[in-house]
Amino acid sequence: MLQADHSSWSGFDQELQLPVPPASAHAHSQALAALIREQIHEGGGNISFERYMEMALYAPGWGYYSAGATRFGPDGDFITAPQVSPLFSRCIARQCRQVLAGIPGGDVLELGAGSGIMAQDLLLELEALNALPANYLILETGADLRRRQKELFCARIPHLLPRITWLETLPEHALRGVIIANEVLDALPVVRVALDNGTLHELRTGHDGDDFHWLETPCRDDQIAAAWNNISAELPTPLPEPYCTEINLRARPWLRSMSAILQQGLMLLIDYGYPRHEYYHPQRDRGTLLCHYRHRAHEDPFIYPGLQDITASVDFTALAQAALDSGLQLAGYTSQAHFLIGCGLAELADAQAENGAPNPVVSAQVKHLTLPGEMGERFKAIAFTRDFPNPLVGFQFMDQQNRLWRG
Ligand SMILES: C[S@@+](CC[C@H](N)C(=O)[O-])C[C@H]1O[C@@H](n2cnc3c(N)ncnc32)[C@H](O)[C@@H]1O
Repeated sequence: MLQADHSSWSGFDQELQLPVPPASAHAHSQALAALIREQIHEGGGNISFERYMEMALYAPGWGYYSAGATRFGPDGDFITAPQVSPLFSRCIARQCRQVLAGIPGGDVLELGAGSGIMAQDLLLELEALNALPANYLILETGADLRRRQKELFCARIPHLLPRITWLETLPEHALRGVIIANEVLDALPVVRVALDNGTLHELRTGHDGDDFHWLETPCRDDQIAAAWNNISAELPTPLPEPYCTEINLRARPWLRSMSAILQQGLMLLIDYGYPRHEYYHPQRDRGTLLCHYRHRAHEDPFIYPGLQDITASVDFTALAQAALDSGLQLAGYTSQAHFLIGCGLAELADAQAENGAPNPVVSAQVKHLTLPGEMGERFKAIAFTRDFPNPLVGFQFMDQQNRLWRG
């Protein structure tokens, strides 16, 4: 086993110029780090990066999404599209309305609702359009986030509370309507691999005193090896070596479980990522891991476990393959910008003009959501349907499904 070169926390702090967390947050992070080290000892000196990421994000009571701190918005670590502007959720509502119109009595299920702001704005828009779902179900893994969502809805949309139900697991019954998830797939734990000297290695997590580090070992996990064989067989050009990347082994079962409950309607997923041949591109030889702490983005997942978000981009081809294998139809794939425009973003923004002139705040929000250098191109919308043949409004101007399969 090789120990990858890895600086200490304090060294990275200085290099990355991350703000130093307050003492209580630091103590919280150290307590979680101790729990992770215990797992490493139990694992004989190392654990998969997938397990590290799972604990850093979701360890009950300690993980980034399980403990009670502000994660979203200006006071948190990052801003998601629903926080950039209510226009985002209003556009999603318009896509929901189209599907719900064809499925009377249909429901909406939102996965990973985060701050709850998307649910709030989406429900308000559906109410204004006279198109409310029978039920708005929220599956949120973090107990603290569920509490925050409830507080928000009690304060802002108390009259809609009777329609909202929180779930801890997927519903037992079949669902007719819409399943939506914004920036959830990038938060699923991934394994990290490296291609070196013609051999697939796994980058596992070990520790040296207080510091976590990468451990590179020839891959002995059949599931990872099989997944990599599938991926590499489809790539149009050989990858340079050494080449480091991630594989999301959880996305496929995740999607299959959603498919299993969707009896009729739409599954709409919005996230950042690429078709497979762009994800595993020769130039992307450092992978796509991205961490956020106090609005600084960097690539070191071992800093401040429990205090920073850790994400990996989405392989949209893998999602599409999983969906097709489970009997869903691929109904659209496009950039966030084109999806929002298809849902009527320009008209919604124009409606907020003041004295015939564009509202500057709204114009700035539209730019943030749609410009290629902001969220417009990096984020994609992908739609899967079952028993819903109508073309979806969000993909009416641009549908790039063919890019998923181009090798
Ligand atoms: C980056 S946040 C996005 C929050 C929100 N959708 C937004 O756009 O602001 C990721 C969310 O996914 C949730 N999450 C992670 N894994 C999940 C899973 N398997 N099922 C449902 N939610 C999950 C997290 O708890 C968190 O709320």
